[in-house]
Amino acid sequence: MKKKNLFGLSHIDPGHGKTRKQIEALLEQKQWGKNEGADEMLAVLDLLANLDRHPYLNSIVMKESPVWALAREFAQNFFAPPPDTNKMFAHLVAKYKWDEVSVYTIGLSNATNALTAALQAHDVVGKEVITTSYNYAAAPNAIVAAGGIPKFADIDKETFCIDIASTLKRVNKNTAAIIVTHVNQAIDLLPLLKGLEKSKQKIAIFQDATAAIGCSSDGVGVGQLNPPPHGATIFSLGPTKVISGLGGALLMTHDYEFLRKIESIAFYGLNPSNDEEILEFGNNYKMNEISAVIALEQLKKKEDLILKRRQLKKMYDEALKPLVKKGLVTLQKIVSDTDDIILTHYMVRLQKSYHSVMQKMATDFQIGLSHWYCYHQEPIYAIRFGTCKLPVTESLSDKIIFLPFHLELEKENVDYIVKCLSESLTG
Ligand SMILES: Cc1ncc(COP(=O)(O)O)c(C=O)c1O
Repeated sequence: MKKKNLFGLSHIDPGHGKTRKQIEALLEQKQWGKNEGADEMLAVLDLLANLDRHPYLNSIVMKESPVWALAREFAQNFFAPPPDTNKMFAHLVAKYKWDEVSVYTIGLSNATNALTAALQAHDVVGKEVITTSYNYAAAPNAIVAAGGIPKFADIDKETFCIDIASTLKRVNKNTAAIIVTHVNQAIDLLPLLKGLEKSKQKIAIFQDATAAIGCSSDGVGVGQLNPPPHGATIFSLGPTKVISGLGGALLMTHDYEFLRKIESIAFYGLNPSNDEEILEFGNNYKMNEISAVIALEQLKKKEDLILKRRQLKKMYDEALKPLVKKGLVTLQKIVSDTDDIILTHYMVRLQKSYHSVMQKMATDFQIGLSHWYCYHQEPIYAIRFGTCKLPVTESLSDKIIFLPFHLELEKENVDYIVKCLSESLTG
């Protein structure tokens, strides 16, 4: 078979003229990290003014691409070598004879598409994929998009994360994969892995670590260990995330062949190393380089971004104390082996249903609260895939809300939000 390198021809001319000169003058004055928050904008300008340095814009196969730089930097920033004391790592070494942990990473358009590509590469068509009913929309949507059958598991009532016993109960001969959504913490997956190892078929674990970027469990970063078969973790870089590219996502795996399959699916199904072959039924799931340069700038200020999130969490914890004392609000339990809690979303459980509270907060105070859905109760899912009983999920389905949690908030804003919440809960 003839082997060729793909995409050797596309070249985009950089901008010319006065604007280009102005941009260059601006870039000459830049001092990275000292531009009063304008670093991301400058990085985008730099990219656009120097397209000749990146002739393969939008290509995930190009080694010099900012997407590649981001993939590498992200892993280096969040993953230290796993300590031998980590129980999951020790299990992988003993059972699967791991002697190194190579992390292969790819940039993709968003977390939903990244999950879809992983499920497609694992071939879940007509097979069951278990995930939590209480979830962000990404997991159930990805299962359906990849041709799988969603099966829903319950959550823990305090952490709002997957209940492993409920998940294992749903495993049967037609189960192909599990999607675990980490909710503001890194879940210990060893009990799940050990449970799945008892089953005959090859069940993949895909982790959605979007809402847990920077969290760790037993000394290992979330998503750092991806057990076979085909284990992978995805991180969204959407606007509300710990590291934002205003879009985009990263996928990590230790399985190189599996990553190549995902790469092909994300790139229209083409074979990345042979332009005369179509390998997969593909799609366009590429990350764009503007997202990558923005996220690269965010990575440089990771410590500050994380510190601000921690401060914000403390402000809310403090301000909510009276409501917690009265039993009107319960804080999410975060399981962590260190104090390194890094929240993506500030989630609380209300004593009463959120419907009237959200309405009052919006109309009386112009404060928007958000919530996730319980997919097994949504008619569109129940009609197509049947329903099931999930007692914890059902008891919390209209109780968990997300308070505003973005880095512009100051203490006075937090106090105001909590005061309004208090009035909405009691009024
Ligand atoms: C857990 C989780 N997964 C996925 C997403 C969405 O990712 P994307 O917009 O990149 O598809 C979100 C967004 O908030 C999320 O909270």
